[in-house]
Parts: sequence; structure tokens; C-alpha cells
Amino acid sequence: MDYDKLADVYARTRGLSPIVLDELRTHWSGTPDSRVLEVGCGTGDYLVELVDSVKCLGWGVDPSAKMLQHAPAHENIRFAEGTAEKFPFEDSVFDLIFSVNVIHHVIETADYFGEAMGYLKPGGMICTVTDTPRIIRDRKPLTHYWPGTALADLVRYPEISKLSEQMGSEGFVDIEEHEISAPIQIDDPSSYKEKAYSCLHLISEDEFVEGLRCLEDDLKAGPVQGIIEFVCIWGTAPLHRAI
Ligand SMILES: C[S@@+](CC[C@H](N)C(=O)[O-])C[C@H]1O[C@@H](n2cnc3c(N)ncnc32)[C@H](O)[C@@H]1O
Repeated sequence: MDYDKLADVYARTRGLSPIVLDELRTHWSGTPDSRVLEVGCGTGDYLVELVDSVKCLGWGVDPSAKMLQHAPAHENIRFAEGTAEKFPFEDSVFDLIFSVNVIHHVIETADYFGEAMGYLKPGGMICTVTDTPRIIRDRKPLTHYWPGTALADLVRYPEISKLSEQMGSEGFVDIEEHEISAPIQIDDPSSYKEKAYSCLHLISEDEFVEGLRCLEDDLKAGPVQGIIEFVCIWGTAPLHRAI
């Protein structure tokens, strides 16, 4: 997926999900001395909120220069082009490395966990926010109006058990999965109409047009009730590492 082409519409129509920030703040004890890296930070929404609430330092990495252009200038955050598989740093260390809605774009997920382990302090944490097959099937509005997006994403998203196993192989301990969810209300179809979701680029134009027609029809009767759900996979770098 070419996020340089999606960047303008992404920045204009998509925002963050507060439940993800709550999860990060609940399960990671950041302090003003903490150093946080968001991998696949895109327009930087999550990183900015987390850094501002903890008052710590942040780094954001993304391969799309156009997504990064939409990230705000921030005195405590540095944004840089880079990928999950190869961070653009020489010798930084972090207390938390996290990604949101990114792991399905990463081809070599084991390489990502290996890279992250090398950049975490002992006791540092990693969090991968993604979707399970059940979450993909139950997505509303996406799967409800465009069932083909679920078929495509069931193939595209890595299995959670595979990710956990890879984390274990790279040495992460205390690996846990938490599911989070919240109701959402859709009253503006713009992000769907403008295909701000990468999965809407994976279905036929006929299916896209028909799904949008149904959504816009339903919106004539009032806001459409939906749901936002994620699984958050946590792991910790061990305090003592074998050399
Ligand atoms: C759905 S967006 C999520 C952006 C941001 N995390 C958010 O939730 O708003 C996916 C992001 O992953 C980035 N991405 C794609 N391939 C990547 C890779 N191999 N490593 C790191 N980021 C990648 C894209 O450029 C894009 O910004």
C-alpha cells in the first residue's frame, strides 16, 4: 500500500481511537524520563498524545515521507523515515516501542521483533495493536458494508499466535494479549467515501460503490452505530539478557 498517495485523505479524515491511548497509559508506566518509539507512526496522532500526557521524549518512524509531513512539529518528538524491520537510529534505547494498525504492512515481522529487542532497555515494553480474525469479521462499518474487505484482511493480517511465537523467539517475556473495544457512531461518511482505509483499495469498484450507497442510505435515517476493536499484544524485554 502506497501511503504517500493516502496521506492527504488519511490526515484529513482519520483520527486516533482513545481506547488505544487508554491501553498504552494503563499497561505502561511512563515517566518524564521515558523514551518512546512509535513504529509506523504515520501522521503522529498517537505519539503526540502519549508524549504530551507523560511529558516524555518521543521518536516516530514511518516509511512514508508524505505521512510524516502531516505530523506536527513538536519540541519533544523527532520524526524520521524508516521501517519496522530497520530503525533509522545508531544507538538509541527506548522504554516503550509500539505500533498501531501497522503490523499487517510489515513483511518480515520476526525481523521487526528482533530489531525492537535490540533497541529496548532491559524491562522495556513492546505493544503491537492489531486485529484478530474475529475482530476483522465483526468490523462495523467496514465489514458490514464491504464484506470483501474482511476476506482480503483475513489473508493480509498476520496470525496473533505467530506474532506471539516470534516475540518469544526473539526473547520477549510476559507476552500478553488484551482485547479492547468501544462503540462508535458514524455520522460523516468522508473517510469511507475517500477510501482512507487501505482495505477499501483491495475490493472491486462495484463492491465499493454498492457499500457506500448502503452506508449513505442508512445515514439518511441518522448516525450509524459501529464498533472499534483491537487486540494489543504486549511483551517485555528481559531484565537480564544472555550474551
Ligand atoms: C494504517 S496506517 C497507521 C498510522 C498510525 N499508526 C495510526 O494509527 O494513525 C499504517 C502506517 O504504517 C506505515 N508502514 C507501512 N509499511 C511499514 C513498515 N514496513 N514499517 C513501518 N511502518 C510501515 C505506513 O506508511 C502508514 O503510515
